Amino acid sequence: MDVKQRIETLKKQINRYDYEYHVLDAPTISDVAYDKLLRELIELEEAHPTLKSDDSPTQRIGGRVLEGFDKVDHTLPMFSLANAFNPGDLKAFDRRLKAVAPGATYIVERKLDGLAAALTYTQGKLTCAATRGNGVVGEDITHNVKTIRSVPMTLQKAVDIEVRGEIFMPKAAFLRLNEAREAAGEATFKNPRNAAAGSVRQLDSRIAADRTLDMVIYSLSERDEDATMTHQETLDHLRDLGFKTNDVVACDSIDAVIEACLEIESKRNDYPFDIDGAVVKVNERTLYKTIGYTAKSPKWAIAYKFQAEEALTRIEAILFQVGRTGQITPVAVLRPVDIQGSTVSRATLHNDGYIRDKDIRVGDDVLIRKAGDIIPEVVSVVLENRKAGVKPFEMISTCPKCHTPLTRSESEADLYCENPTCPAKRTEALIHFVSRRAMDIEGMGHRIVEMLYNEGYLASIPDIYRLKDHREALIRRAGFGEKSIDKLLKHIEKSKQNSLERLLFGLGIRYVGEKVAKVLAMHFGTLSDMIHSGVEELVAIDEVGEKIASSVVDYFADAHHRAMLEELAALGLNMKYTGKRPESGAFNGMVFVLTGKLDSMTRDEAKADIEARGGKVTGSVSQQTDVLIAGEDAGSKLAKAQSLGIDVWDETTFKQRLM
Ligand code: IVH
Repeated sequence: MDVKQRIETLKKQINRYDYEYHVLDAPTISDVAYDKLLRELIELEEAHPTLKSDDSPTQRIGGRVLEGFDKVDHTLPMFSLANAFNPGDLKAFDRRLKAVAPGATYIVERKLDGLAAALTYTQGKLTCAATRGNGVVGEDITHNVKTIRSVPMTLQKAVDIEVRGEIFMPKAAFLRLNEAREAAGEATFKNPRNAAAGSVRQLDSRIAADRTLDMVIYSLSERDEDATMTHQETLDHLRDLGFKTNDVVACDSIDAVIEACLEIESKRNDYPFDIDGAVVKVNERTLYKTIGYTAKSPKWAIAYKFQAEEALTRIEAILFQVGRTGQITPVAVLRPVDIQGSTVSRATLHNDGYIRDKDIRVGDDVLIRKAGDIIPEVVSVVLENRKAGVKPFEMISTCPKCHTPLTRSESEADLYCENPTCPAKRTEALIHFVSRRAMDIEGMGHRIVEMLYNEGYLASIPDIYRLKDHREALIRRAGFGEKSIDKLLKHIEKSKQNSLERLLFGLGIRYVGEKVAKVLAMHFGTLSDMIHSGVEELVAIDEVGEKIASSVVDYFADAHHRAMLEELAALGLNMKYTGKRPESGAFNGMVFVLTGKLDSMTRDEAKADIEARGGKVTGSVSQQTDVLIAGEDAGSKLAKAQSLGIDVWDETTFKQRLM
């Protein structure tokens, strides 16, 4: 077959698999087979650059960096919606509407909390994606939207259309992103909407590609006079073209609409993404022209906004947390209160500017809310309830732990304790070092670290590896049994073998999160090669920018840090990258399931062996599974694998493949 034809076939196949996975949520191909196709396409396109096209699925990987955003004129304005806050508002909407369009029926759908975007397809190919902007002119974000896997690059039919929908970040992806940013010492996003908006407004599309974004299409842009289908038929049509669309409820009375809105509201916490309301639309598109528009919004639709999830409580105290980087965060201690089914007793106050802007004081009654439905924050103070004599808030000027005078960050927003030996920073740094995603020392939680620190056994990272010299003393201490200390010491010893990226991440170098640590460890292979590198070499690495590079260089330039690393090496810590290398792993991209008992190794060991070779271990047998490793007494998983025709290896075969 000629190359051009092969490329076209691959593009079609990959697009189909992307659609099945990201839109239908029903994959029909294993990850390995998918990766193989994608790799083949990448290689063919690299070998034949003239055959590379803008609609290729390889474009989803990101990499286009723009100088600035182009402006895009919207052919039809992007309206917003009027709001209804209660059933009464919905009934009033119905009365107004029925006066001009007595035959109208309704569609109710979820109102996703993200940002609106318009997608243009020419001959079925995605040619432009734009933000709403001011409704008339938006910004070109095509490079970023192409990285969203549920957005088709090519439609099922070669049509010229424009569609509109909402780009959002699923809750799980938001939590993962913030966790990683926090670990890397970077500012976290306040809610999934801000995270999605921040990702779409990047000039470098690799950032969006890296963050899990999704998009649901809610309308087809067409002039009202051209409309022939109902809204529901339009959505069906859009789904057939390959788009991910919203679930809808058809209602033929306003009472049914109200019921549907309340039903969506009652389930709001169960959805994998944030919603901030429901949207009620007239189903008959042919009536839109008659019903008409206000300057800002259509009269044929309304947003039913949920009751704000707010609660009234009192601020009992304001505490100051010292983070690993020395950043001081004021935290409100609240009289416990229930919001959306969970008890809230703390709220972040961000920084002193935030507290002053809202004039928050200890003893105040405050309204609190779960921001983006996840992290509680103070909305406002109920000033009428303020008691006489309540004192204005005063920010601390010295560290609450070590009393060192605090300094302002460059942005002026945050205060920092710069004392390198501050006990709060030290314990936070130790807690980070042993944490699951860093050195993963089991049994060494927050409380144990603090206790060992307070008792004087643990002042620095190397002390962790000297705890074994204090075994007897630790046993004598109440609450530390012989068994538990031995277990802890065993886990500590085991962590010495960790691959370099865990150590690097654990050191808490600013801007070096889990991912960057891995990239660095893989690139340099050994710590000493890394210590001797300069900014130039570092920025040459993909994914490493100026900010990270100079932070790394500064870290290793510090004699204390180098001495500590020498100590760690002398204590026997591995300083090499021992993880898998892409392309060389024997099990690259393969999905394994383990079942039954293995004789010569534990399950964790088998799992580590597989992962070290690029494979993945999952819990249950499915179409996605490539190999089932069956030990003794394998049961139903074996039967299932056999029925699906999946490869089954016994322990001997597995061990041969490992060699
Ligand atoms: S229809 C004519 N449907 O809500 C207005 N909007 O306040 C067309 N939104 O800017 C909007 N989910 O970004 C519609 N299912 C949905 C929606 C939705 C979220 C957003 C949209 C719009 C804003 C209106």
